[in-house]
Amino acid sequence: MPIHYDEFTQIFHLQAGQSSYAMQVSDEGYLCHLYYGKHISRDDLSYLNETGRGASFSPNPADGSPTLDTRLQEFPGAGVGDFRQSACGVRATNGAYAVELKYISHNILAGQKPALPGLPAYYLNSAADGDTLEITMEDALLGLHVKLYYCAFAGENIITRWAVAENHGAATLSLENLQSACVEFPRMNFDMVSLHGAWNRERHVERHPLFHGSTVIASNRGSSSHQLNPFAVLCDKHTTEHTGQAYGVQLVYSGNFKIEAQVNQMHCTRLCVGINPDNFAWQLQPGESFTTPEAVLSYSDEGIGGLSRTLHRLTRNNLVRGEWKQKLRPIKINSWEAAYFDFNADKLVAFAREAAKTDVDLLVMDDGWFGARSDDKTSLGDWFVNEEKLGCTLKELAERVNAEGLDFGIWFEPEMISPESELYRKHPDWALHIPDRGRSLGRRQCVINMALPEVQDYLFDCISAVLKQANITYLKWDFNRNLTEVFCHSLPANQQGEVGHRFYLGLYDLCERLTTAFPHILFESCSGGGGRFDLGMLYYMPQTWTSDNTDPVDRLKIQWGTSMAYPLATMGAHVAAPYGHGRANKIPYRASVATTGAFGYELDPTKLTVEQIDEMRAANAAFREVQQLVTTGDFYRLISPFEGRTCAWQFVSPDKSEALVQCFVVLSEHNEWDLRVYPQGLDADAQYELDCGAVLHGNTIMHAGLRLQDFGGRDFAHRNIYLKKLV
Ligand code: GLA
Repeated sequence: MPIHYDEFTQIFHLQAGQSSYAMQVSDEGYLCHLYYGKHISRDDLSYLNETGRGASFSPNPADGSPTLDTRLQEFPGAGVGDFRQSACGVRATNGAYAVELKYISHNILAGQKPALPGLPAYYLNSAADGDTLEITMEDALLGLHVKLYYCAFAGENIITRWAVAENHGAATLSLENLQSACVEFPRMNFDMVSLHGAWNRERHVERHPLFHGSTVIASNRGSSSHQLNPFAVLCDKHTTEHTGQAYGVQLVYSGNFKIEAQVNQMHCTRLCVGINPDNFAWQLQPGESFTTPEAVLSYSDEGIGGLSRTLHRLTRNNLVRGEWKQKLRPIKINSWEAAYFDFNADKLVAFAREAAKTDVDLLVMDDGWFGARSDDKTSLGDWFVNEEKLGCTLKELAERVNAEGLDFGIWFEPEMISPESELYRKHPDWALHIPDRGRSLGRRQCVINMALPEVQDYLFDCISAVLKQANITYLKWDFNRNLTEVFCHSLPANQQGEVGHRFYLGLYDLCERLTTAFPHILFESCSGGGGRFDLGMLYYMPQTWTSDNTDPVDRLKIQWGTSMAYPLATMGAHVAAPYGHGRANKIPYRASVATTGAFGYELDPTKLTVEQIDEMRAANAAFREVQQLVTTGDFYRLISPFEGRTCAWQFVSPDKSEALVQCFVVLSEHNEWDLRVYPQGLDADAQYELDCGAVLHGNTIMHAGLRLQDFGGRDFAHRNIYLKKLV
């Protein structure tokens, strides 16, 4: 049993894979943090529950017990003597802002993990996957109960956490902050690794030391954002990609979030993760409850790479759902970079015909098929097929594409509304706006208010109607701006702080309804590329368009950074035209970079030379040979594109019987020593055959490395090395 409670010491001990987590109910009823890290035995850890240290200016609670200001706590309240960031903040009807939570009971749910109502969450495939601890805390004066949930995964170093606030009192409570989790560390000598970016430059890796005060990774853009991803790592100073300790924190959520690491006067670190409290306030009526999104805590003593592999496995096995969870994804060709808004059915069918010669599986009709849309100024919300533009019905178009041997997919951007649209003329109040205030435009569009049930129903009905018209097997779900004027006309003044979260409850509900109604369709989420690459969207849609930037050199960094937190199989990765879009790299280099993910093309195949069509065919054949390996293999980052002019990474099958090492040069230098690459994760004592015919032991390959002769001296050189274990 991974969760154990000792009645005598009142210590909870959780074991998740090879990691341990411990906490203790103090004599006064506070839930105090004891330990998180590498697996330890179930000793009496009471000696770690420090109570004696209080600095001057650290007040004691009214009962005279030790100050909360310096105690390590599981879910700190606010306003009663702990001046650090809190996990829970409540304003009572008299305006007082204070919460003091004490333990009242707990429950161990063996082999179970309760669902989070209306929210995406990890799930257990069987009772053997893990157990959940439910601890009920109470602020008796407020009549507030907060249930803390800890799901310990049996086979992985992962504990997921969330909280549920319940109003057991007679008065409405204004919940102004409810974090998903708080973890305390009795030290500050950490580096934080985080993922920052911008449109076209998503998830670049940054590493910086913690300092006294707060390091905050957050979004208030109404989405998980291009700018900062809801993911961070705290690691030791000497932790590398392959060695050392690392703690990961993530949120299963697509809206405003905050991850804050705060170092206090005692040089201790408090890490909180949850919905960004900025402009958040939820009115909790008597008898009602509020559930936070789920936070993911992970631990590795095999460096940041080990942490990523753990997260990849858990997301592939316990988050992604539906028919496409296990299936290899189709190779697709998308119309966006090939035609932008300038297409009709004949042009799309010509793409399909040419692509069929190279063994592509699926043609996707991107933006521009609906309403009166021929540029980005109009029609979002008018989800009706523009048959005049296409020159035929959607059914006929799909049949013609199918006749060429390809499946057919389609693009939507449901959460948006163009001021220039039938829908806006009919329902101007459906756009997010504040009365009498101007409506900000992003890409000439407004955001539709997903918090309104009538909007959710409208979108469900018209998207379903389109999907039923034709043989559609794929849907790209876009989201091309951030939220402004976040206000809902149907809610009273004191509930406007709920709108940002209600938007996501509405979106998630719509996603649930559509993916349930159309289980055969492969959904891919997108937000101007990778502006909403998060675990919330991956729960509904098993892949995400990683970036609008399809330049292969830029993609090395974007995919490297994204792989810190997300499995490779979830990353949409396309080969763009060698005649445009970024550097003039040839198809084989582009294809090699795109081999890491959900593979496809972003080009007009009718404009390619015969030689380029041959390259496309060869790339597709090569991809299919390794698709299973790159989809389910363990991923090792070998040479960072952030540190030099080369990049290398590797996939190893779970049974270590095969591996693929991919190496890329960006710009070369004269008189360079041959690059060596040191693969990882092989069976040390087994022999592997390389595709050049050489046979070497795993330990030789990993420690003496492989030489990439003739690799230097050429810009954009690349090499795929396939290793097969001999039996
Ligand atoms: C976004 C997406 C692109 C494309 C366009 C269409 O930018 O990221 O792939 O679908 O929208 O407008």
